Amino acid sequence: MRIFLDTANIDQIKQGVKLGVVSGVTTNPTLVSKEGHKDYKAVVKEICSIVPGPVSAEVVVEGTQAMLEQARQIATWASNVVIKIPSTVDGLEVTSQLARENIKVNMTLCFSLNQALLGALAGATYISPFVGRLDDVGHDGMELVKDIVDVFKKYDNLTTEVLAASIRHPLHCVSAAKAGAHIATVPYKVLLQMMKHPLTDIGVERFLADWKSVSGDK
Ligand code: E4P
Repeated sequence: MRIFLDTANIDQIKQGVKLGVVSGVTTNPTLVSKEGHKDYKAVVKEICSIVPGPVSAEVVVEGTQAMLEQARQIATWASNVVIKIPSTVDGLEVTSQLARENIKVNMTLCFSLNQALLGALAGATYISPFVGRLDDVGHDGMELVKDIVDVFKKYDNLTTEVLAASIRHPLHCVSAAKAGAHIATVPYKVLLQMMKHPLTDIGVERFLADWKSVSGDK
C-alpha cells in the first residue's frame, strides 16, 4: 500500500515528501487551477523534481489525436510523469496506443468495474476509481474499489494497480487499505488527519508533565 498526495500545492508536496510517506502525486486541472498556476509544464516539472515517484498530469484536450499528441508532449517533461487519461471510449484508444509506446497512463474518472476492466486490458498502469464522487451521488464508492481489487486478483493478465482517488476523509484510507487498493491518493489535510489521534496527544502531554514533575523542570 502506498500513499500519494492529491494536490498541486508545492509547499504541501514538499512537506509530504519530507514526512517520508508520500511516494507519488496526482494532479488534475481543477487542482492546478486552484493553486493559480499559469504555466502547466513548469508546475508539472517542478512537482516531478520534488517527488520520488510517479506524478500524474492530466490531458486537457478532447479527441483521440489531440489527447495522444498532448500525452506524448507531457511524457517528455519528466521521467516520472504519468499521463492521466479519462475513462472514455476515446480514452481507451489513447491508453492502448500510449501503452504500446511505453508511456504510463493513469486512467482517471473511473466509476464502474467495466471501465476499470477495459482500462486494464488497454494497458493502463493505474486505474483511479473516484470514491468520494460516487459517495456524493448515493453510491458506495469503496465497494467499487473492493470489486476492482477482487476481480483483478482473479486474473494474471490484469496487472494494473488500483489507485483509490477522490478520498475525502481518513476512514476512506482505512477502507482503501482493507480493500487491498495498491495506492490511496489523499489531500494533504487527510494525510495529517490520518496521523492524528487525541489519545496520542493526551499521552504525550501527560508524559511530559510527569517527567517535569520528577526532574523538577519548569
Ligand atoms: C484523483 O486523481 C483526483 O485528482 C482526485 O482524487 C479527485 O478528487 P475530488 O473528487 O475530491 O475532486
